[in-house]
Amino acid sequence: MSNPLVTFAVQESSVPDRWSRLRPGPVLGLESSCDETAAAVLAPDGQILAEAVLSQADHATYGGVVPEIAARAHLAHLPGLVGQVMRQAGLGFDGLAGIAASSGPGLIGGLIVGSGVGKGIALARGLPFVAVNHLEAHALTARLPGLVLGGAPFPYLLLLLSGGHCQCIAVEGVGRHVRLGSTIDDAVGEAFDKVAKMIGLGWPGGPAVERLAAQGDPTRFAFPRPLRGRPGCDFSFSGLKTAVAQVVAAYPPGPLPAQDAADIAAGFQAAVVDVMADRAARAIELFRARQPEGRLMVVGGGVAANTALRTALERVAAARGFGFAAPPLRLCGGNAVMVAWVGIERLRLGLTDALDHAPRPRWPLDAADMSPTGAGPADMPR
Ligand code: KG4
Repeated sequence: MSNPLVTFAVQESSVPDRWSRLRPGPVLGLESSCDETAAAVLAPDGQILAEAVLSQADHATYGGVVPEIAARAHLAHLPGLVGQVMRQAGLGFDGLAGIAASSGPGLIGGLIVGSGVGKGIALARGLPFVAVNHLEAHALTARLPGLVLGGAPFPYLLLLLSGGHCQCIAVEGVGRHVRLGSTIDDAVGEAFDKVAKMIGLGWPGGPAVERLAAQGDPTRFAFPRPLRGRPGCDFSFSGLKTAVAQVVAAYPPGPLPAQDAADIAAGFQAAVVDVMADRAARAIELFRARQPEGRLMVVGGGVAANTALRTALERVAAARGFGFAAPPLRLCGGNAVMVAWVGIERLRLGLTDALDHAPRPRWPLDAADMSPTGAGPADMPR
C-alpha cells in the first residue's frame, strides 16, 4: 500500500513539493457517503466549473436513510451526474488533473459506489486518485476561494454539526485535525431528526423543525440544556431528546395540536442553540490555549444550515474577537464541491491514494484515533 496514514500527521512545510510532478488542472469530486449523490468539477484555484447534487427523496417514506436504497440510487445516478458536470465544465476526462471521491466515513454501500466510480476513471485515464475523508471535506470548505475574506488560513476552529457528527475540531493543516470535544451520545442532527419524528414532521427533520419553530413560543416548554456550563466542549443531546419525548407522551395519541407542536419545536431549538453557544464559547477557549494566533470559527455539516444557530454562533465568535464563517447553505450538507476541493488541497501537497484504498464506514478525522488499535496514524494504511 502506498501513502501510509502518516499524511495525517505530516507538517505541510515538510511535504516534498510533488505538485510539479502532478499536473495542475481541474479536479472531479464525487460524493456518495449518505443520501446525496453529487459530482463537481473545480478549477485548480477552487473556482467551481460545474456542480450537481441529487438528494434522494425515496427515504422520506421510511423516515430515514435506508442504506441499500441509497447505494442503489448512487449506482443509478452517479455515472449520469459525472457526464453532466464534465459537459458543463467543457472537459473530457483527459483534461482533469485528478479524481477525488468521498471514501468515508459514511454508509459503506454508497462509499463503495462513489470511490469505485472515481477509481475506475482514475485507472482508465491514468489520473491520480484522492480518497477523501468526508469530515475533512467539511473542515476545509471554509478555504474555498471567496468564502472567507482573505482566505481561511490555518489554524481555525471548526464546529462540525451534522446528522452523524457533532465535534469541535482544531483544523491545523491539511490532514492535521485535533478534536477538542464531541458528543457523548447523539449527534445534533440526529436529535433534530428524532424530535421532528416525535412531533409529526417529515424527514429530514432539521429544516422542518426550524420552519415550525419560527411559529412557536420558545419559552413555553423549559427543556434542559445538557452540559451547559460544564468544563470542556463535549455535547450531549439524549437527555434533551428524552425531555421532548416526555412532553409529547403526555398528549393523547394522534397529531399534536398545531400550536403545541410549534412551541415544542421552538423550545427544542432554543435549547440546542443555548447549548451550542455555551459549548462554542468553551471550544474557543480550548482552541485559543492551543493556537493563540487562531482567530476564526467555522461551522460545517447539515445543521450549520440552521439560521438561529448560525446567528447565535456568530455572536459568540464576535464577542471573543473571532471571525465567523458559515458556508452557503448548499455547501453545508452533502456536496461534491467540498470533496473536489480536498482533492485540490491534497494534490497540491502531492498527497494521493492507491487504487486499492478501501472505503471506511468509520474514519475519525483526528489523528488520535485514526488507528483502531490506538497506535496512531503512522501504522495505518489509508
Ligand atoms: O451533513 P449532513 O447533510 O449529512 C450527514 O449527516 O452526513 O447533515 C444532515 C443533518 C440532518 O440531521 C438534518 O436534519 C440536519 O442536518 N439539518 C438541519 C437543518 N438542515 C439540515 N438541522 C437543523 N436545522 C436545519 N436547517
